[in-house]
Amino acid sequence: MSRTAQLTIDGTSIELPAIVGSEGELGIDIATLRSKTGAITLDPGYGNTGSCESAITFIDGEQGILRYRGYDIAELAERSHFLETSYLVIHGELPDAVALDAFSRRIAEHAALAPSARGHFESFPADAHPMAVLGAMIHAASTHHPEILSRRIEDFDTHAARLIGQTATIAALDHRRSQGLPWIEPDPSLGYIENFLRMMFSPDGREVRLPSSEVVRALDVIFVLHADHEQNCSTSTVRMVASSRASLYASAAAGVSALWGPLHGGANQAVLEMLTEIHSEGDDGTRFLEQVKNKSGNRRLMGFGHRVYKNFDPRALIIKQQCDLVLARLHKADPLLDIAKKLEETALHDDYFVSRKLYPNVDFYSGIIMRAIGIPTEMFTVLFAIGRMPGWIANYKEVMEDKQGKISRPRQIYTGATRRAYVAPDERG
Ligand code: CMC
Repeated sequence: MSRTAQLTIDGTSIELPAIVGSEGELGIDIATLRSKTGAITLDPGYGNTGSCESAITFIDGEQGILRYRGYDIAELAERSHFLETSYLVIHGELPDAVALDAFSRRIAEHAALAPSARGHFESFPADAHPMAVLGAMIHAASTHHPEILSRRIEDFDTHAARLIGQTATIAALDHRRSQGLPWIEPDPSLGYIENFLRMMFSPDGREVRLPSSEVVRALDVIFVLHADHEQNCSTSTVRMVASSRASLYASAAAGVSALWGPLHGGANQAVLEMLTEIHSEGDDGTRFLEQVKNKSGNRRLMGFGHRVYKNFDPRALIIKQQCDLVLARLHKADPLLDIAKKLEETALHDDYFVSRKLYPNVDFYSGIIMRAIGIPTEMFTVLFAIGRMPGWIANYKEVMEDKQGKISRPRQIYTGATRRAYVAPDERG
């Protein structure tokens, strides 16, 4: 029996159809609400609003479940790897060996930037933020591929491969530029993670000091954990831009902009900045937590809390294990880590955090791993973007394949001045 919802406004009752997702989530279809009643819904922050139907990622925030295309995140983190997971997220199925090989090779072949890109890099100030550089360079890449504007589905796989390959290249080359290291080209014979680490850290590009398997694995797991996260701020932005029929590059660059903020992808950088500040003030975290709880100075415990996960973030459990493995392998004693542990232990037992269901999120630990590997703090969010690129691409593809798709255009409740007459400048009081 189909389910419906009844709504009564000013004595007028209407029936609205219910939409039930494949995991039983219930939504009320309000598409006819305005035409039937003149009313709209108001939901600042969209906590109760479904913007689309999507078959990519399922999250149950109450139970701490995250699945890509039906596969549990813990199983993917343990048994899959970033490129295979990227294929799964974008194409909907795990690839066979031939498909995975073709997918990986296409990414490696398209990882090099256009020759003129070097000029773009050199024009940025030395201290340009890597997220600004990433957004600009994704737009720049599209200038070399005008065929993207036709949005031909036949070209899609190439553009997707270029974005996955070049995001890592842009990140590493920007790091080299900031460190005064010479420009190098990606090496298509290396794996995605190995090539990225080589491009980041090899002094001359020839020397390939292979990092430990724990480091490669931890970075791979970080990317797998970030590959998609349903309708978060940046992915919603990508879908919003895509709905106007803008290109994949324009949509992905918009995703980079949305990700940059400290309440979203910028949180991993903000966690490290918070730990550094606590350390420099000679605090062990106790004073800081008091300020957070008193809400003095508008401070938040960065890396804690999530809009959707209200019991635990399943990604945080997995990444905490990787964090322990990497630190043990690299024999890193880090005062910031001691502060992080103290904050975590205290907050998990403190009524302020417990009553608000605030738990460590993925960003609390990912920053500590990246710091141990030697990734500069201001690059953390760029690594989040590398991981999230397949999710943005998959969501763009879903929008593109929806032939009935409408441009995203929310409404508003206007609260400004009502109509008034223009007053000439010399008559204004
Ligand atoms: N530290 C201290 N108090 C907090 C925190 C925090 N990290 N997060 C939420 N609160 C409090 C908030 O002050 C409010 O308290 P009260 O009820 O007394 O007014 C209550 O908890 C509810 O907060 P909210 O802002 O309504 O919750 P939200 O669901 O809108 O915010 C969030 C989610 C992630 C923006 C928020 O928890 C936050 O700012 N966390 C820190 C930033 C962070 O780590 N972001 C990364 C999220 S995971 C990566 C990603 O997917 O982007």
